[in-house]
Amino acid sequence: MCGIIGFTGNIKAQDILLTGLEKLEYRGYDSAGIAYFKENGKISIRKTAGKVKDLRAICDDNDATCGIGHTRWATHGGVTNANAHPHKSGNVALIHNGIIENYHELATTYDLEDRLISETDTEVAAALFDKFYDGENPIEAIKEVIPLLKGSFAFCIMFENRPGVIYAVRNVSPMVAATSKEGSFIASDLTAFIEYSKRYFIVPEYAILTLEANKIDLQDLNGNTIEPEFLEVDWDMTAAQKEGYPTFMLKEINEQPAAINRTIMPRIKDGLPSFEEDGIPDSFFADCNDITIVACGTAMYAGMVGKTLMQDILGIPVTVAIASEFRYERPVITDKSVVIVVSQSGETIDTLEALRLAKTKTNKTLSIVNVKGSSIARESNYVLYTHAGPEIAVASTKAYTVQAAAFYLLTCKLALVQNAMSEADARTFIRNLENVSDNIAEVLKLSDKVEQLTKRMLNASHTFFIGRGSDYTLSMEGALKLKEISYIHAEAYAAGELKHGTIALISEGVPVIALATQSHVYNKVISNIREVKARGAYVILLSMDEKITDATICDTHISLPKVPEQFAVFEAVVILQMIAYFTSTGKGLNADQPRNLAKSVTVE
Ligand code: M6R
Repeated sequence: MCGIIGFTGNIKAQDILLTGLEKLEYRGYDSAGIAYFKENGKISIRKTAGKVKDLRAICDDNDATCGIGHTRWATHGGVTNANAHPHKSGNVALIHNGIIENYHELATTYDLEDRLISETDTEVAAALFDKFYDGENPIEAIKEVIPLLKGSFAFCIMFENRPGVIYAVRNVSPMVAATSKEGSFIASDLTAFIEYSKRYFIVPEYAILTLEANKIDLQDLNGNTIEPEFLEVDWDMTAAQKEGYPTFMLKEINEQPAAINRTIMPRIKDGLPSFEEDGIPDSFFADCNDITIVACGTAMYAGMVGKTLMQDILGIPVTVAIASEFRYERPVITDKSVVIVVSQSGETIDTLEALRLAKTKTNKTLSIVNVKGSSIARESNYVLYTHAGPEIAVASTKAYTVQAAAFYLLTCKLALVQNAMSEADARTFIRNLENVSDNIAEVLKLSDKVEQLTKRMLNASHTFFIGRGSDYTLSMEGALKLKEISYIHAEAYAAGELKHGTIALISEGVPVIALATQSHVYNKVISNIREVKARGAYVILLSMDEKITDATICDTHISLPKVPEQFAVFEAVVILQMIAYFTSTGKGLNADQPRNLAKSVTVE
């Protein structure tokens, strides 16, 4: 939540900051601002409620070569110009991603209240840095203030009489930095400056980073020098651009065949799953009594796909927990439990804290993560990178399918090691997994049909997604996708549960998206569909049964390519993603940046 960027170098800063902020807008987009050093060493600030394009409109051209920028997702205080970052107090201007939990207490204890003009926790931090700053030594001020703060933070700070220098420090909230011939960069995420450097380092927690045009200095709070650990990304600028698509979401939906191949292919050796290159020993898979999957949102729904598959094939207990609940419900984890943590960003705070809790009970934690070097990846015992490339649209699409694909690989490996599957069956299973990307490519060809059918959804106030077994878990993801980008109320129901209450909500014309890809419950689902149809629902049915034409069962049938039904989730979910997408764009909404949301949820 919130995107931050800083640059100091030998070329103009403003455009680097504004362009970087546009790349970071997925992290928050309700207000934006920049601060830069003027020629006289004073700090100038431009900020406004609205998006980065609104900020651009109020920025004059200037020659400043050092500045900081912020795009906000409001936590403390409404969306106003005053609450936008940067915040300036005395000689200090700063930007912040995170939450200072004890801001009220700090404002009272240090008598800062009269200095505050915004409602934000961040301005209290700015006032505190200024209070401890003696006009000479910014690092000493930072060292004194940081231990006083409770909560999460990534700060970029400029001190008025230190032109050309940016100081940065963080706890939990992410921050990466790089140097290049143009100067020194810092940001929440390297998409903000990847066109200048693919080599970067993660700013360690509680380290103070000093950025100057031609050098950086990293030290701990005791003044000891730290050597940055550089990483290199395996994707470039084009991966973070729309490449001709009208939106990132549509681009990412279409990238799924390639993304899945990048997740699975390096981990298939001689037709069988192999995690050798990930450094995961077979003992990890052998010595496992039960599995708990922990994640949030779409990542959690991908975990549910994993649960259904693992329980089915392995026959051991598999639980899926919402990360924000897991932390507070005394989870039953033993040293023989495997805990799988799933996160695209690797920075979701609830998932990270859940991982930390799990690690107090077992050292068999594994994360499925997209962003290289992210906190969750670094802190779990083992990590499987999904290699999906940057996911910019707030609504996850390719992240879900690659996470699900990782679960298929893991399940096959577990089954082999635990003798729950023969080698011959494992080879067939892996061949089916290898076919998934081609199957998705086929499904993507149905986009015109899907767009057409969503015309029926544009005026709906309520919709329902129903299914049984793995189709029920898919329904949850389909409903989430529709809600978040089209603002239409959508509920997922286990089809058999409808008549225990919810069917009361079905009236003439209410859209019901029904999934029927699983043969062992097929007839039951069809009966449930007839029940809603008889009460006037407009039924859109997804199945692999090409014989369906009967108007008493559905109004529109999407015939999915025939695949072994364990693998139907991949093609069905792509249709659900397209239903959400075309409903959103059909309503004239911004599918990439839905209201009230941000891509990376780094506050609790
Ligand atoms: O980065 P993460 O995978 O940890 O994010 C978890 C959720 O916030 C995320 O999956 C969210 O639900 C989706 N972006 C919704 O489409």
